[in-house]
Amino acid sequence: MIRIILMIFGGFAAAAALLVLSVYWRSEARLRDYETPPPFATEIPTDAASLEKGKHIARTRGCFGCHGQQLEGRDFSDMWDWAKRPVAPNLAKVVQENDASALEAAIRHGIGTDGRAMYSMPSYNWLHLTDDDLAALIGYLRTVPVSDKKLPKGQLGWSLRWRLIYEDDPTATDLAALVPPLRYSDADDPVLRHGEYLAMTMCNECHGFDLRGDQVFGNSPDLAMVAGYELEDFTKLMRECEPAGGPRDIGLMGLVCGDRFYALTDTEVSDLHTFLSTLYLEPVPENVGWR
Ligand code: HEC
Ligand code: HEC
Repeated sequence: MIRIILMIFGGFAAAAALLVLSVYWRSEARLRDYETPPPFATEIPTDAASLEKGKHIARTRGCFGCHGQQLEGRDFSDMWDWAKRPVAPNLAKVVQENDASALEAAIRHGIGTDGRAMYSMPSYNWLHLTDDDLAALIGYLRTVPVSDKKLPKGQLGWSLRWRLIYEDDPTATDLAALVPPLRYSDADDPVLRHGEYLAMTMCNECHGFDLRGDQVFGNSPDLAMVAGYELEDFTKLMRECEPAGGPRDIGLMGLVCGDRFYALTDTEVSDLHTFLSTLYLEPVPENVGWR
């Protein structure tokens, strides 16, 4: 009798161990299932003007907001519940320890330096960063002194691994592949070209990959609404986080203008405004994963 009970118990234990192993291996395989981007061949600049540009890009694209004001890294366990322990690593250290191709794969394509697709890094936001801007950004990041702050290691956890396999939860790499191409990259009008470039490397983190609204990453409005914003009011929103009509709580938007957009130049704010004011002329794309 005891032998039978032990056999049944052993059977269950073996089945449970197999399930755990299979979820682990299948999720690991899923994290390595992507197309490897070509090596990043642009030289990383070290001259003062490029480093200044790189610093401006790091500020306006939000690297400090998540990786810490000294790029020392940040544990997001108390804010984000989608992974067991979401940790933005010590970026000042990461850029010292990895070559430009590995950094490019992480920043533009969501591939971690360990070769696995990332999950919480919004790389889709920087897919369209130009090679020159990316090289300047990496050049600048490498000048930041490395803090010795101790951080726990990030962990995906079982429920995220399960969702990756059985619910087709997208990785950062999957999301970067969904970002639509720029429409004005070859346009003659430098203002539209620049405005679209800025919006598609800053605002698409939360306002939808095509800027036409998002219900998945933070319930943010279609930026076609900017057509109703005078330049003066738009500038006030970017610089002082104050929306048209006077102060009110604008949630996550208040956080990012305070940390990133306040640093935009006058030309950047005005080019963004001009481009975003044309969005309403186009129909809102349907059947996209983020609306
Ligand atoms: C919304 C928060 C957020 C922002 C903004 C952000 N990161 Fe990250 N980043 C993360 C997290 C979290 C990770 C850890 C990987 C993961 O969990 O997806 C990460 C990982 C990385 C890695 C890979 C580290 C490794 O060793 O694999 C690099 C490189 C990186 N970020 C660079 C940047 C740069 C450059 C910027 C600014 C352009 C930036 N990040 C902005 C959250 C962010
Ligand atoms: C980290 C996420 C995030 C980013 C990045 C972001 N936004 Fe927002 N934004 C939001 C959210 C969330 C709201 C809705 C706020 C609310 O609850 O009213 C919003 C609201 C707005 C509004 C409407 C303000 C109003 O009148 O109510 C405008 C305009 C706007 N954002 C412009 C931008 C522009 C331009 C960019 C890029 C330069 C940008 N946002 C980047 C999250 C973001």
